[in-house]
Amino acid sequence: MTHPDAVEHADPVEPRDRADGAGPGTALDGPDTSVARLAGRRRDRWYPQAHIAARAGWINDPNGLVHFGGRYHVFFQHNPYGAEWGHMHWGHVSSADLVTWRHEPIAMAPELEAEAGGVFSGSAVVAPDAAGRPTLAVFYTGHGRPGSAHEGAEDGGPRPDGRAAARQVQCLATSADGAAFTKRGVVIEGPRVMTDFRDPKVWRSENRWYMVVGAGTPDAHAEVWLYSCDAATVEGMADWRFERVLHRDPEPGVYMAECPDFFPLTRPDGRRRWVLVYSAMSSRHPSASRYVVGAWAPGRPFEAGRPRPCDDGPSYYAPQTMRASDGRRVVLGWMPGPGGPGSALPQPAADDGWCGQLTVPRALALGDDDTLRAAPVRELEALRTATRNLGALVLEPGRRVRLAEDLPVGEVEVEIDTVSSTARRVRLVVDSTPDGGSVGIDVDLMSGRAGLAGRGAPDAGRGGGSAPGPTTAGEACGDAADRLRLRVLLDRGSVEVFCDDGRQAISATVFPAAGPRAVELGVDRGTAAIARARTHRISPIFR
Ligand code: FRU
Repeated sequence: MTHPDAVEHADPVEPRDRADGAGPGTALDGPDTSVARLAGRRRDRWYPQAHIAARAGWINDPNGLVHFGGRYHVFFQHNPYGAEWGHMHWGHVSSADLVTWRHEPIAMAPELEAEAGGVFSGSAVVAPDAAGRPTLAVFYTGHGRPGSAHEGAEDGGPRPDGRAAARQVQCLATSADGAAFTKRGVVIEGPRVMTDFRDPKVWRSENRWYMVVGAGTPDAHAEVWLYSCDAATVEGMADWRFERVLHRDPEPGVYMAECPDFFPLTRPDGRRRWVLVYSAMSSRHPSASRYVVGAWAPGRPFEAGRPRPCDDGPSYYAPQTMRASDGRRVVLGWMPGPGGPGSALPQPAADDGWCGQLTVPRALALGDDDTLRAAPVRELEALRTATRNLGALVLEPGRRVRLAEDLPVGEVEVEIDTVSSTARRVRLVVDSTPDGGSVGIDVDLMSGRAGLAGRGAPDAGRGGGSAPGPTTAGEACGDAADRLRLRVLLDRGSVEVFCDDGRQAISATVFPAAGPRAVELGVDRGTAAIARARTHRISPIFR
């Protein structure tokens, strides 16, 4: 828990009781007690085995990803008092190997007046303290309480996403051990007129600290603002200077860039580029994560190419990256439920006492064409058990080949020989449950791209669950190679699809019916030559 001695206290934020009685028994529960209480009543039909989630309650964005003190730390936006968004705390899990995790006590709760509406998203870096000890510095957004001294602009009013306006400021907290935090208060107050100003991501370049913050301008444009700081110690990291507007999203209707992240990647041809990832809130289409790539150096503007989607699925938002101990750039995203972030649709998992999970950690790479690739980190292969090698197969119309009778939590690898195939499309049906529900993954052998197709009745009759929405078409990436590799991670409540080592990634939540989950392959027309197919079970990541 936090060490609040360094701060002036606001009134504690009262947890709301849920109308359906599934909330905390008493508003006096501390957040960890509340989570334990909710976890005792949790139903596990869709609760993840191979993905990070809270023991109970709601989660959204990954926060503060960092390797510190020999462990990976993943914090996340967390409501310990219920399975819906609200009362944002920082939940916490940690891992020595990036693949098996343990739950940690809640790291930060709203305490300061400036954060009375929640400790919102942010990031972590390691810096020395005044005594030279490596210290964790987390920068996060304090979301004020509407109606308080920290209320937003007079004309703030309700915003396009329905959340009430409240002032948002950037705050610092530090920790010697990655578990107990000292709040050091507000370090950046944005312009009063702006009500969307949040999600600081900090890094170090050329002996200087830099921070990007997402901004929604009063004229409704999404921008990413850049700040810098010269401090040598965490104590000095309260002093930030505005540098420039790093990026403005070019698309009409995009009014806020949530959770920006800015980092370098070197392409195979040796060129070093900078990648800016952010989650675009739009009045014209569902909010979605995108990235732009370009040239940047300290003191210079960022010359970015056009935005592209980070993921072609319906459930991928607010990704954040960190440097792994060996230098890899690793990303985790939030997999929101039906309707995506901020959706008013019923969230099936919430009935079970939890809601929200993160993707598996993915390693990022940049192609020579400046496209971002995201493939599961190799550490995940250590979770494989019960590997079944199905060898080479030929697919013909009218006959589906069953790869697994029941793969509740597992992995499917399929390598398609596109040269020897006449079919245009191969369909992997990953979730064919006895009630006829299923989720199809269609692989187009011409473009080399995959898309999700809900089939059967994944919605109705499947525990009130929901099929993944249609995937974005994505952009064609030229002729597919001779071999097309498809990798699918199946968890109780999600499907992640990867083509060719992350050339394309698709994330979706699913809510299958009880009973065996079969995996099948088929074609509608022509034949397809499968060079190799394997299935694995995946063992649980929380030990
Ligand atoms: C993105 C987001 C962030 C904010 C947080 C609040 O999902 O809206 O911009 O900091 O969630 O939970």
